[in-house]
Amino acid sequence: MGEAPTAGVVVVRAGEVRSGEGPVARTLIESPTLRVVLLELTPERELPPHRPPSHLFLSILDGIGELLAGDAILWLSPGDVAVVPGGTVRGLRCPEGRLVALAVVTPPPAPEDHRQEPGLTWPEQGQGPDPAEVIRQEHRGLMDGVASLVHLARTASGTDLSELGPALRAATHFLEHELLPHARAEERLIYPQVERVLRACGGATATMEYDHRRLEALTTELAGAISSAGADGAGELLQQLATTVQMHFDKEEELYLPLLGRLGRDDREELVRSLVGGPSGAAESSGPAVSDQKEDGR
Ligand SMILES: [Fe+2]
Ligand SMILES: [Fe+2]
Repeated sequence: MGEAPTAGVVVVRAGEVRSGEGPVARTLIESPTLRVVLLELTPERELPPHRPPSHLFLSILDGIGELLAGDAILWLSPGDVAVVPGGTVRGLRCPEGRLVALAVVTPPPAPEDHRQEPGLTWPEQGQGPDPAEVIRQEHRGLMDGVASLVHLARTASGTDLSELGPALRAATHFLEHELLPHARAEERLIYPQVERVLRACGGATATMEYDHRRLEALTTELAGAISSAGADGAGELLQQLATTVQMHFDKEEELYLPLLGRLGRDDREELVRSLVGGPSGAAESSGPAVSDQKEDGR
């Protein structure tokens, strides 16, 4: 538990709850009028459906939760707040990982309020439609247009551009009227939902690691192509490598590296020390860029 600057004040730092015991992790405050509880649930430890007379205010701090409220199951992620009036059936479970939530219950429930009523169970939900499959299908539908772009790129080198007029116009039409609208729809509908799940589960830098794996695979392929007699496809692989590296650096520099500026001073100093090898490894410091940043940052 965090320090208490004034009697009765409770501060719990993020990520501090790890009780490993029953579903109710820790009562922070209990008075005749309310109880404030920090809940930690796992797929094995849920609050089963019950119907207490108390009102419940729930705030999700970490992970993904499913709240049963009445006969509806509500999907909740960090930042979501729910209010369930007294006398309404409620339950809380964590489909995977770990869920941390702050629950304010008023008035404090009596022990018998947690008793499970016979017949109160989680309603069956079924799988429902899969939005990922809708996007995969759109991608498959766009692949013909992408294949034409690849074909056009191959033909374009060494061809008089004036001969390619209709094909170039068709390519532009495909980009403007099919590919870019698809991308915009993803930004409007898909990415905000992905972001909600990322906030709960982490993994925001997985796309960057994916690029690194792609670079490793292309490098291996290139080595294979070079060692084969004809070096078939080496030119195309080099092109792909250059494009992937450029795009990757752009993403790192425009989107990720600026976020490091929001770290506290200590974290930034520690990070720079690690990057340049620390006091013992300083001699191996590998480039002026990091050293310059360190000096500028002071
Ligand atoms: Fe897409
Ligand atoms: Fe990188």
